Amino acid sequence: MADGRPRRGQVLVVDDETYVRNSLGEMLASRGFDVDLADGVESALRRCERRSFDVVLTDLKMPEGGGLELVRRVRASYPEVPVVVLTGFGTVSSAVECLHAGASDYVLKPAAPSALELVLDRAMESRAIRRELEYLRGREDGAEFPVGRSDAWRQVLKTIQSVAPTDSTVLILGESGTGKELLARLVHRWSARSRAPYVRVSCAAVPVEMWESEFFGHRKGAFTGAVADREGHFRLAHRGTLFMDEVGSMPLIAQAKILRVVQDGEFNRLGDERATSVDVRLMAATNSDLEKDVAEGRFRQDLFYRLNVIRIVVPPLRERIDDIPLLAAHFAAKVSARLGRSTPAFSRSCLEEMTAYSWPGNVRELGNAIERTIIMSIGDIVESLDLAPGSVAPARGKNAEDSPMNLRQALLQREKEVVLAALGGSGGVRKEAARLLGIDQRNLGYYLRKHGIDADKLTASDPS
Ligand SMILES: Nc1ncnc2c1ncn2[C@@H]1O[C@H](COP(=O)(O)OP(=O)(O)OP(=O)(O)O)[C@@H](O)[C@H]1O
Ligand SMILES: [Mg+2]
Repeated sequence: MADGRPRRGQVLVVDDETYVRNSLGEMLASRGFDVDLADGVESALRRCERRSFDVVLTDLKMPEGGGLELVRRVRASYPEVPVVVLTGFGTVSSAVECLHAGASDYVLKPAAPSALELVLDRAMESRAIRRELEYLRGREDGAEFPVGRSDAWRQVLKTIQSVAPTDSTVLILGESGTGKELLARLVHRWSARSRAPYVRVSCAAVPVEMWESEFFGHRKGAFTGAVADREGHFRLAHRGTLFMDEVGSMPLIAQAKILRVVQDGEFNRLGDERATSVDVRLMAATNSDLEKDVAEGRFRQDLFYRLNVIRIVVPPLRERIDDIPLLAAHFAAKVSARLGRSTPAFSRSCLEEMTAYSWPGNVRELGNAIERTIIMSIGDIVESLDLAPGSVAPARGKNAEDSPMNLRQALLQREKEVVLAALGGSGGVRKEAARLLGIDQRNLGYYLRKHGIDADKLTASDPS
């Protein structure tokens, strides 16, 4: 699939005049575009059926309804493909009409090569951005730069730096919460594909009967409920990166289908006889032991070999304790900024407590613990960390007796009161309660469970 040769984009040039068509085509090809030609509306649509273009460049005045007709029909059948219209001075008003019909831009003839190039690049870029935004909306922390300074962490970053620019498949392994998703995003950001879409799919979240449609897309009418054409993840990631997260949860039946794409670089949308070929860099991650899964028949060996080209193993947090103070400071600053407070420091004993703890939930657990601690803390020094209930605090030797149990109990009590007050103040609306507390709504769920608060009952009977 990925041939390693960065191309500039696939352009379909549509003009009924052979000379104009050919010279435009040659000019764009010499500037690195992948060019295809069509001499009218019908032949352009036939080409679109066969290939998926990044942009269509069409003359305005042509037989068969001309550029305007083409804009309308491309919009209807391939809404994600931008159309740029070429127009003479005398027909600017028709070009504007094309914009209303959904053309993404127009260029005046005779078009200077550099101006044309710019418009085409912009049209393709807006397409890529649109697609990426669709995928990244609500996932701002995906863009965060990972923090760390331990040798183990530096080694991971070094590997990423050297593999990112290649098109090799990357498999990221590591315990839950070690930062695999953040690193996958970094591989994309440091690659030549960084401006193309980055598509992340959690394999654990796709119902088994939806696999084909989700990954390969479908044509309208392919099955009951397929009311419109739909692009799958592979097509959406075209020219970019497809990150298959939690790949260990991929059902065997889906593994066979993915293997075919990985081997042949092409697939069929459901209900589509034509094969679609894509240029996609694959990445995968899992916290399960894939080799064991292979040995026990849960994961196909052939697919494993295909994914296991470059392997990045992210060490658990307990094996890179040098990162803990830095990460703690990072999360403390982040949470404090959100709460509009100044960032507290950690006392020496608190840092010792942090580095002695085993962090089975890794960086995620550390982040959550810091968030809880900061929310409940007063003053500018944090003396002790609020570890998750059920977690075993590290033994503290001689100091075990004067461990801050009472303080902890008092804080717990106060925490419960504050959560209850927020629920009361929001009339039981969780989103609002979370806002009042300055925490994510999903973390509110954690506090409710922690204190055994049934928010629904609370609103029904006792809104205070
Ligand atoms: N080095 C880091 N710097 C800053 N934040 C980090 C770092 N590593 C992880 N995080 C944060 O910790 C949380 C968990 O990270 P991430 O989702 O990447 O883990 P994961 O390995 O994919 O976990 P899982 O296997 O459970 O999916 C995220 O909120 C992420 O932003
Ligand atoms: Mg993950």
